[in-house]
Amino acid sequence: MTINRELFDQVMVPNYSPSAVIPVKGEGARVWDQNDKEYIDFAGGIAVNCLGHCHPALVAALKEQGEKIWHLSNVMTNEPALRLAKKLTDATFADKVYFANSGAEANEAALKLARRWALDKFGEHKSQIIAFNKGFHGRTFFTVTVGGQAAYSDGFGPKPGDVVHSDYNDLAALEALISDNTCAVMMEPLQGEGGIISPEADFVKGVRELCDKHNALLIFDEVQTGVGRTGDLYAYQGLGVTPDILTTAKALGGGFPIGAMITTTEIAKHLKIGTHGSTYGGNPLACAVAEAALDTVNTPEVLNGVKAKEALFRELLNEINEKHQVFSEIRGKGLLLGGVLNDKYQGKAKEFLVEGINQGVMSLVAGANVVRFTPSLVIPDADIREGMARFEAAVAKVVANNA
Ligand SMILES: Cc1ncc(COP(=O)(O)O)c(C=O)c1O
Repeated sequence: MTINRELFDQVMVPNYSPSAVIPVKGEGARVWDQNDKEYIDFAGGIAVNCLGHCHPALVAALKEQGEKIWHLSNVMTNEPALRLAKKLTDATFADKVYFANSGAEANEAALKLARRWALDKFGEHKSQIIAFNKGFHGRTFFTVTVGGQAAYSDGFGPKPGDVVHSDYNDLAALEALISDNTCAVMMEPLQGEGGIISPEADFVKGVRELCDKHNALLIFDEVQTGVGRTGDLYAYQGLGVTPDILTTAKALGGGFPIGAMITTTEIAKHLKIGTHGSTYGGNPLACAVAEAALDTVNTPEVLNGVKAKEALFRELLNEINEKHQVFSEIRGKGLLLGGVLNDKYQGKAKEFLVEGINQGVMSLVAGANVVRFTPSLVIPDADIREGMARFEAAVAKVVANNA
């Protein structure tokens, strides 16, 4: 059987349009394709491979658990799930954990829990969910409706109701919208897919205060920002604002599918027996790998390393920009960074990604105007320099193509 990009068009549902490159091997921050061409990975599977590819601690955890027990069901619990839940609660504000398999599922659980909490405590009138324009929370029908891009939720018939949107970083707009009918406010503590947009300190504090004033829950979607990505284990810890519910996925499994919703005992108690569930949530293989990922990331060396690597990324991106003038700004935090394209390159972020692949470096976009970088949190500095040299070659090509 010939395995190539044409086969994708033959056998796959056409909801994606992947590159012609098919990677077959990865080690650390490097990846090789079917033709043995090497790439430096600044994408990390969209902020997933927090420890690069095939990190020895994760491989060992997977192998070890793979020879013990793979799957039970939630009729029984298992050791890796309990160990991971204990470590997540020890490391955060939360007392309780619900395991899912993805970011969208963790968010779905958070939203359902918020609705239950409000219904139980206050009654049917308190069902409004406020989220933010440009926000992204996943692709289930509830989460995509809460997400702030109608283009992703339109076209599927009637949407889940009582979901409204406000502008990020606009506290007055939120104040005008929120009321005692609001059940929850859901936000990313740094908008990722929407274009790498950091929250202003006063805004996050203000959102917390408004939630408290109106007895609404504050849900932080840390699916992209969580597990060390911003230099804190969770971004809320760097903002000094604590949510009531937090969701985490992507980097949590370092490449193995897992998601989690974490919250306090007081709120968790509303998800009573039988109210929600998942066949695979809390799977022993996923939890064993996630435990190893969490143990490895949640150390001063790795978290401080993220801050140092952010500085190197910014320095090299600024150098590239001085030569080629493509960005108006480098923004983001930790290793969740975006190069915002200036007026001349509006709508052209994908050209940088495609030319990067040609030059042997993988990057991402965040919308049409931002080139996004979410590499391994432990990417060696030498790989950052090599990857940036390749990225500069890609930038030079794009500049020449647009001259
Ligand atoms: C902030 C945020 N929430 C939720 C999701 C959805 O996660 P998943 O694709 O694992 O369902 C994403 C994915 O990009 C995300 O960035």
